[in-house]
Amino acid sequence: MFEFDHVSFQYKQSSERIIDQLSFQIQPTQHIAIIGANGSGKSTIAKLALSILNPTEGKIKEKPNLKKSIVFQNPDNQFVGVTVEDDIAFGLEYHQIPQYEMKDRIYESLELVDMIDYLQHEVSKLSGGQKQRVALAGALAIQPDLIFLDEVTSMLDPNGRQQFGDILKRLKHRQQMSMIQITHDMEEAKLADLVIVMNDGRKIMEGSPEEIFTRVDELRAVGLTVPYAMRIAHEMGMDTSVYITEDELVNRI
Ligand SMILES: Nc1ncnc2c1ncn2[C@@H]1O[C@H](COP(=O)(O)OP(=O)(O)O)[C@@H](O)[C@H]1O
Ligand SMILES: [Mg+2]
Repeated sequence: MFEFDHVSFQYKQSSERIIDQLSFQIQPTQHIAIIGANGSGKSTIAKLALSILNPTEGKIKEKPNLKKSIVFQNPDNQFVGVTVEDDIAFGLEYHQIPQYEMKDRIYESLELVDMIDYLQHEVSKLSGGQKQRVALAGALAIQPDLIFLDEVTSMLDPNGRQQFGDILKRLKHRQQMSMIQITHDMEEAKLADLVIVMNDGRKIMEGSPEEIFTRVDELRAVGLTVPYAMRIAHEMGMDTSVYITEDELVNRI
């Protein structure tokens, strides 16, 4: 459905590749988490995928008319409308959604993120977490086949992060879309169907969370951690060659 085929990218003035020969595929309704240290090229992947940047080498292949949308990291950098309703309407106009469909889509997407009560509120007066939920509503309103979330919870407080996480979990069950979630939060990454690990512009691992998160030392070597339960198990000297969930950890202690 959507694929990076040996994609490389470098800025014209620079000699180093920001993305080096990256290949991966995503299938309908699949949820991929991309993890990697700061500067490993994660946001560049999203920009390439959304055609904000173009590959220097390789190809991005996608099914015709694939609809993609993105939510960025900074809640303050993605609004054009004054009110919540206007902002989502702008996005729909940009995607040429007919006027008669707009209201339904705006209401529906705001319901999905628990922000329907804020329809007429000014975006600038919302909290960071609320802004991100509105940004998510805007991205959902275009009914994408594939949505990118680029560290969308990293600037939120723990409470905002929790709420956003709950909404994402719910969406995973309800929406028929694919998701590529770039994240620093291993508790988020462990919920994905597939985890891709980036280091220095290269994909160094790809696999299920159960496979990836048993590789504790390798992940540490590239500045990453593992989900809480695995971290504790590792610190306690338990056998971490098999993935351990929080419940399993509790049972074993
Ligand atoms: N406009 C730019 N010009 C040159 N290098 C850039 C530019 N933007 C980002 N980079 C470099 O690209 C690398 C990858 O950045 P990015 O994709 O944002 O990483 P991540 O999202 O994983 O933190 C970093 O080393 C960064 O310094
Ligand atoms: Mg980034």
